[in-house]
Amino acid sequence: MGVPLVDLKAQYALIKPEIDTAVQRVLTHTGFILGDEVANFERAFADYIGVREAVGVASGTAALRLALQACGVGPGDAVVTSAYTFFATAEAIQQVGATPIFVDIDMATYNLDPNCVEDVVIDRNRGSRSAGNGRVRAIVPVHLYGRPADMDPLLDIASRHELMVIEDAAQAHGAEYRGRRCGAMGHLGCFSFYPGKNLGAYGDAGMVTGNDDELLERVRRLRDHGRTSKHEHSEFGWGERLDALQAAVLLVKLPHLDAWTQARSAHARRYTELLDGGAVVVPYDPPDSRHAHHLYVIRSQQRDDLLAHLRARGIGAGVHYPIPLHRQPAMVRRGWNQFSLPTAEQAAAEVISLPLYPELTDNQTLQVVEAVTEFYSS
Ligand SMILES: Cc1ncc(COP(=O)(O)O)c(C=O)c1O
Repeated sequence: MGVPLVDLKAQYALIKPEIDTAVQRVLTHTGFILGDEVANFERAFADYIGVREAVGVASGTAALRLALQACGVGPGDAVVTSAYTFFATAEAIQQVGATPIFVDIDMATYNLDPNCVEDVVIDRNRGSRSAGNGRVRAIVPVHLYGRPADMDPLLDIASRHELMVIEDAAQAHGAEYRGRRCGAMGHLGCFSFYPGKNLGAYGDAGMVTGNDDELLERVRRLRDHGRTSKHEHSEFGWGERLDALQAAVLLVKLPHLDAWTQARSAHARRYTELLDGGAVVVPYDPPDSRHAHHLYVIRSQQRDDLLAHLRARGIGAGVHYPIPLHRQPAMVRRGWNQFSLPTAEQAAAEVISLPLYPELTDNQTLQVVEAVTEFYSS
């Protein structure tokens, strides 16, 4: 028996009666768009994150795009973000007409290195960097793998340079940095409920969180065609609403999230106990943060061979992510090939994600560790 990277069926089996009742409720009342299901989930998620308000949208990518737009980021602007994240972070910046500016990461955390960010902002706003035009208007820190980015120095840089901060918390539901939850620290926070996320819908779904009523009101308008009333549209927006079926599913799952995160963290600790001191680099848990353990990511200089070995033994290992954003073909075409961001490049060559989900058993964890150990002893 192998071990999958994630197991969505195991989770559904545990909450089937609650989920089936919620789905049946929506099918019966037929209020499929917005309405009480979405409003109730928005309220519950805002309380969970510790913000005034949350606005449900169609995906994490939509959340980022609408948040950027609500913050006034658009054509002619540049946005600083991590070179090492899922492609959608940069895609959303491009979608609002702005230029993504990639900054290298800290290898211990895989997140934006604040030491690199300020140099780039100053350099860029003096007009001396190429690869697209524009003054820096915003920073998009990503809490990669569920580990919070080092927000205090980033917020400080943003306040000194008058930049908006939009958190990409797509992988960080419930993660905390110095007592504050991811998604509650910047001007706006963006979440994905893609099925494999810690809090996953049964389709695409996302959320924008924050404390600024005006910004969130704009996100609310933009997600629904710029609508101010049934027949009046104050600006051009998008059809990017969260649908009621997904909200009903998420409302069932939210009360389970902390227990699921605790289970993920226990499995992560067990992996680290068993692998630390061996041939692979185990993840670092910053002491002032609560990691959401979306992914358990190790590093190996023989990554591709180790990956092939694990897969041959039925272990569903993955790579998040094999290509840093400045090396993606879509970015190389925009001039990024002339820049080197060595830490992101090294991470992309060495990382490997081991199976991690709440329902993982001790036996499965041991099976994964034995397969890793076997690779290095052969
Ligand atoms: C870091 C990050 N940003 C953005 C996204 C985009 O979210 P979605 O797939 O819901 O559009 C994802 C998830 O896929 C992600 O992991």
